[in-house]
Amino acid sequence: MAEYKELLKLIDRTRLPQHIAIIMDGNGRWAKKHNRRRIEGHLEGAKAIRRVVRFCGEIGIKILTLFAFSTENWNRPKREIQALMNLLYKFLKEETNNLRKNNIKLVVSGQVERLPSKVRAELSSSIDGTKENSGLILNLALSYGGREEIVRACREIAKQVCNRREKFKDINEQFFNEYLYTSGLPDPDLLIRTSGEFRISNFLLWQIAYSEIYVTPVLWPDFNRRDLLLALIDYQRRERRFGRVKSG
Ligand code: FPP
Repeated sequence: MAEYKELLKLIDRTRLPQHIAIIMDGNGRWAKKHNRRRIEGHLEGAKAIRRVVRFCGEIGIKILTLFAFSTENWNRPKREIQALMNLLYKFLKEETNNLRKNNIKLVVSGQVERLPSKVRAELSSSIDGTKENSGLILNLALSYGGREEIVRACREIAKQVCNRREKFKDINEQFFNEYLYTSGLPDPDLLIRTSGEFRISNFLLWQIAYSEIYVTPVLWPDFNRRDLLLALIDYQRRERRFGRVKSG
């Protein structure tokens, strides 16, 4: 606790990343390490989500995007998918009140239509119940894949151009952004991946062009406030040049 307070003092509140994105990896390894079933790893992972969301809200992060279920995760054993969907359903049912109370607005990125109907219903009611909130935006990436998102945007733009609702000459990067699931959100400043893998795994391929990447060996279920502070301290030590040369 003492160390945590010391770390907190190192954070410059005026230079926080506006948008943090997290690849929450390592639930399965956590379960294996503790001789538990994979689903118990996911259960602990859900607790870590609650911790991190609360902390981001408290310190003043504007947007938190969490990779909760990828398009590739549909290829996992049916039992695991079902368990993850049940967990998601429970999470939404139990957390909506807290989100509302803590001024957190829930949004979603991904193929919502592929989710089970009871999850979709809970998701809509959480989104609707928190839409007026002005604090942290919690963006859950669900059935999300970066390549799918880009192809979907291209198809939609092509359709609009064919129907003459958009003009070919208007297509530029800013325009393209508006056709992504993350339309309206700024790109992540900081991308965190837990469990030590140096991979992007089809997450936010377009949006992370200039994100700072931080990889920690900590398994997601163990990820806590201290680990997030370490990521923020590391981020604040970096010089972001966006392809330009150093000023001065
Ligand atoms: C990867 O662990 C994690 C996921 C499949 C996504 C994150 C899911 C949770 C945190 C569970 C709860 C989610 C919600 C939204 C309530 P893994 O199984 O790939 O771990 P491994 O690589 O160690 O096997």
